[in-house]
Amino acid sequence: MSIIAQSSPNIALIKYWGNRDDELRLPAADSLSMVLDFPTVSATVDSSEVLSIRSYDHDGIEKLQTEASVDRLKKHWTLTKKFLRSIGRTQELPEEISITIHSGIPPSIGIASSAAVFSCLAEAYAALVRGKALTREEVSIIGRLGSGSGARNSFGGYVALENHGEGIGSAYGRQIASEEHWMLHDIILVPSREEKKVGSTEGHAKATTSPLFAERIRQIPRRMRECIDAIQRKDFEKLQTVSEEDSLDMHHVMETQNPPLRYLSDATHRIIDDIKTLRDREKLQVLFTMDAGPTVHLICTEDSREAVEAFAGRQKDCIMFKAKTGKSSHLVEK
Ligand code: DP6
Repeated sequence: MSIIAQSSPNIALIKYWGNRDDELRLPAADSLSMVLDFPTVSATVDSSEVLSIRSYDHDGIEKLQTEASVDRLKKHWTLTKKFLRSIGRTQELPEEISITIHSGIPPSIGIASSAAVFSCLAEAYAALVRGKALTREEVSIIGRLGSGSGARNSFGGYVALENHGEGIGSAYGRQIASEEHWMLHDIILVPSREEKKVGSTEGHAKATTSPLFAERIRQIPRRMRECIDAIQRKDFEKLQTVSEEDSLDMHHVMETQNPPLRYLSDATHRIIDDIKTLRDREKLQVLFTMDAGPTVHLICTEDSREAVEAFAGRQKDCIMFKAKTGKSSHLVEK
């Protein structure tokens, strides 16, 4: 019985950085993102005698599995079983599985490929569970166990990842608004295709070493409220103010943790300065935000899209991707 699921990345508007439990990927604070419709990842999962993993990159070429990526997938499967056991559903799962992943996402370009991969696997694993369907919150928890931000793909549109008490199931996604409520564009500018040296998992584990971390955690509840309100009212200026504040704040934490993580490049800063100038001059509704890489996400309204795309097209040293508000991870075929 083959199960095929599909998912895509999300872009955080209030960033997740730092865990209260690294092993279980329980975030230190809430976060919120917009699911994207592009690029996509698909995963085919089957029950099998032994665990087998195959993965194909965006060119369709089979990727050599590193020990680290195999270990992460294995650990995710083990944690998924642990979570299902905690809600009394594990006996319904096969002992081992085969996984085939097709990723449309170029690696390490600051677009969260791990969120797309693990939310996709969560969708497929949930479909393996016989009997009553898992809830979207339970699917979100399974995604989170592989990649914290992956918890935000089990709903479409705008999704918060929120903490609720203690234990393996104590952080999961909540839909703030659907993709139909407010369609925004994400014009993605990738200034560098170098593989980043330190990934998010390692970075999260050192977040508390930044002297700015405690204040960041203190500010998040207010930012979450403002961001949720901005989305519900479709107030772009409010969304811009709070999300830019939060993105820059997360990078200050990263840059002051030990060892420091400097994801933003000169090109990132130049793009930010230039888009601010253009935004003021042409009264555009566009905001910038950066995850764990130099990639700049220019999120804009339909009315401002043409001007933002023209700006992005002039950045000759960058690769450009275009995405918009997307739907949740979902099954393709069973
Ligand atoms: C900067 O979800 O990639 O993109 O749990 O280790 O996979 P892991 O971390 P990940 O962290 C996301 C960090 C971020 C901000 C965000 O997406 O909220």
